[in-house]
Amino acid sequence: MRISPAEDFDDLSEQAFQLAERLLARRRQPVVVLPTGNTPAGFYAACVRRGSASRIGKASFVQLDEYLGIAADDRRSLSRWLDRVFLGPLGIERDRLIAFNSSAESPDREAARVERCVRETGIDLAILGLGPNGHLGFNEPGSAFDSVTRCVSLTPESILSNAVYWGGTSEVPARAFTLGLGTLATARATILLVCGAHKARILRRVIEEKPSPALPATCLRGLPNCTLIADRAALAEVPSSLLTA
Ligand code: GLP
Repeated sequence: MRISPAEDFDDLSEQAFQLAERLLARRRQPVVVLPTGNTPAGFYAACVRRGSASRIGKASFVQLDEYLGIAADDRRSLSRWLDRVFLGPLGIERDRLIAFNSSAESPDREAARVERCVRETGIDLAILGLGPNGHLGFNEPGSAFDSVTRCVSLTPESILSNAVYWGGTSEVPARAFTLGLGTLATARATILLVCGAHKARILRRVIEEKPSPALPATCLRGLPNCTLIADRAALAEVPSSLLTA
C-alpha cells in the first residue's frame, strides 16, 4: 500500500480526484466503487466541479454498502446519498449505478445478485473510507479477507459512528449490505481515503499491525495497486519513516 500524505481535507480531495483520473485513463468503460460518509465529500465536490467531461464522470458505478430494511426513498438510503452528492449533480442516470435494493424481500438473494453483477463487470477502481473500528464498507471486524457481498449486522461502534449522519443511534438500521473484502480485492486499483485526528489511532494500527480479519482494512496491505491518501491529522501517529512522499 502506497501512502500519499495530504495537507488537509481539500488537498486529500484534490489528490483523490487527480489519482482517480489517472487510474481511469486508458479504461474504455471503467467501473468505480463509490463509498458514502463524510471523508469522500470533498472528492465528490471535486468531481462535480470538473463536470461530466472528466473520466470519472463517464464511468459506471457500484455502491459499496447500503442499509438493509429501509425503503428506497428513506432519507437514510445510501444510494440517495450518492444521488445527492455525485450522481445527480453530474447528471448520471441511475442505470449506471449497480445499487442494492434496501427493501429486498430476500436480502441474501439480493446480495448474491450484486456480487454476480460485480464479478461480471469487474472493478477498475474502488474508492473506500475507513470506519473507526477498521471496517471497509460494512465489513466489520472478523470479516474474512475472501468474503463476498452479503448482509451483515452492524457493530455497536459502527452504529455509533453512523449516528452522526442521522441524528442518533436509534435512527441507524441494525443491518446492512456490503461488498465483501474478497470482492473489493478484485479491483484493479484501490484508493483509501482517511481524514481527521479521530482516525489517527485506527490508521496507525491499519498500517502497522499484522494483516488480520480482526482489523478488516489491513487486507489492503496485500493489494498490489492500493494508495492510501490521508491528511496530516490522520497520519499524526504514523512514524514518518513510513511516509513515502
Ligand atoms: C461508514 C461506512 C463506510 C465509510 C466509513 C467512514 O460506516 N460504512 O463505507 O467509508 O464508515 O465514514 P466517514 O467517512 O464518515 O468517516
